[in-house]
Amino acid sequence: MGKQLEVEFGQITDDNIEQLRQVNLACFPVQYQETYYKNVVKGKNEDLCKFAYWNGYIVGAACSRVENVEGSDRKRLYIMTLCVLAAYRGRGIGTQLIQSILDHYEAEKDAALSKVDEIALHVQISNEDAMNFYKTKFGFEKGELVENYYRRIDPPHCYLLYKKLR
Ligand code: ACO
Repeated sequence: MGKQLEVEFGQITDDNIEQLRQVNLACFPVQYQETYYKNVVKGKNEDLCKFAYWNGYIVGAACSRVENVEGSDRKRLYIMTLCVLAAYRGRGIGTQLIQSILDHYEAEKDAALSKVDEIALHVQISNEDAMNFYKTKFGFEKGELVENYYRRIDPPHCYLLYKKLR
């Protein structure tokens, strides 16, 4: 694999949201709803939602949010999407994107994120690259199997992957 590429991060805004749409279209077999794009822009939070730039070009993106954990007053960081354009994969960009979200957690764990105690995401059961990435690089664990999570792709099932943060 080629050398690691050091990326810079940039905010996702109304002016460049179309580029997120293009990157997602190139990387995911599902299309995300308008509400997802609206929430990314409305959140105005570069710590949670960001582009990765290499040499001035967008090569990937990560979008996460803080959400309530059902039945408790605890919260979790939830990764909605993580993608790196295929030509740039295997060069450490996905790692830098996830690490930057974990760094934000570390910086805010006793302040804005004091109620957050885990980070989680859903991944299609056939997406072994992504499962290995989260498990081997960051120590995520495989959680429940959610059947028929996706409507238009086969297999439609996903796993919850999670990592306890405290
Ligand atoms: N493609 C992917 N992984 C590779 C490749 C390659 N061509 N070649 C090697 N790898 C291995 C590497 O060994 C690397 O580990 P190493 O650093 O120990 O060598 C690891 O996989 C990948 O680490 P990174 O380079 O940091 O990650 P990358 O920039 O490739 O991004 C990602 C990983 C985001 C999962 C990417 O493969 C991708 O965009 N996939 C398509 C979209 C997707 O499946 N996203 C996750 C779905 S779940 C969700 O979005 C919540």
